[in-house]
Amino acid sequence: MADNPVETHYTSADLGKTILAALKEAGKDLDHPTPDDLAPVDEFHGGQRPATIRLAELVGFTGTERVLDVGSGLGGPSRYLAWRYGCRVSGVDLTAEFVRVAEMLTQMTGLTDRVDYRQGNALDLPFDDMSFDVVWSQNAVMNIADRDRLYREMRRVLKPGGKLALQEVAAGPGGEPYFPVQWAREPSISFLYSQEATRAKLEAAGFQVLIWQDTTEEALQSARQRAHTSAGAPPTLGTHLLLGDDWRAMFRNSARNLEERRTGLFNAVVERTA
Ligand SMILES: C[S@@+](CC[C@H](N)C(=O)[O-])C[C@H]1O[C@@H](n2cnc3c(N)ncnc32)[C@H](O)[C@@H]1O
Repeated sequence: MADNPVETHYTSADLGKTILAALKEAGKDLDHPTPDDLAPVDEFHGGQRPATIRLAELVGFTGTERVLDVGSGLGGPSRYLAWRYGCRVSGVDLTAEFVRVAEMLTQMTGLTDRVDYRQGNALDLPFDDMSFDVVWSQNAVMNIADRDRLYREMRRVLKPGGKLALQEVAAGPGGEPYFPVQWAREPSISFLYSQEATRAKLEAAGFQVLIWQDTTEEALQSARQRAHTSAGAPPTLGTHLLLGDDWRAMFRNSARNLEERRTGLFNAVVERTA
């Protein structure tokens, strides 16, 4: 049983079985699924696989990097980086059920020699100083209030000159978000900061900004599309499988929040200064 409200939010019983049944129904080869087969369900962030490809291209991976994915969820992005570039990737996530399913899917895709997961808190990363060339995180920090500590932890585990790649939901000028959203059913576990405040916190933690892209407009287009299609029957494979009965309201609110600029989305690549 989860004892943290964030973990409780993300935990659903028998998620592995639900995903396996959906993969089977979608006609996927359960013995040899590819990361592409899993992408509709295991890329749990705005823009899904195309957003992961975009952030990876901003980093400019060569394949030799040792990567840490913070808030790795079901592991879609970490498996993609290992599969596409050949990187060695570790994922850390608060939600034990997600870590179990991430391990199952990694085994199914034959990537266990390059990808591993552990349960842990991003505020107290279970890794030595200067272990990674790249720290990566997509749509995971919205549940974390203490961003100063978070970014210091991310910096600690990076080698000097290493890169931190972020896709984050930010607070917008339009007011408080509507709930429920994918990361929270109510405000007590949602902590959004403006892009300006986030940038200042990253710089104060010892990072230099290399790339900063506001992707709110693109995120709005894909959120609108998803809200529109979710009005009908759900697809066989999709992130609604992770979200519980109120997933339609979450998809609708995500689009409204972006539309009314209550939230925004950005990509950033920042470098650890010595
Ligand atoms: C919306 S999911 C994104 C998962 C993954 N990054 C992806 O894009 O597919 C947010 C994830 O952040 C994790 N998370 C939230 N707070 C965390 C914390 N303090 N430490 C580690 N993981 C955390 C949750 O358990 C969840 O798996």
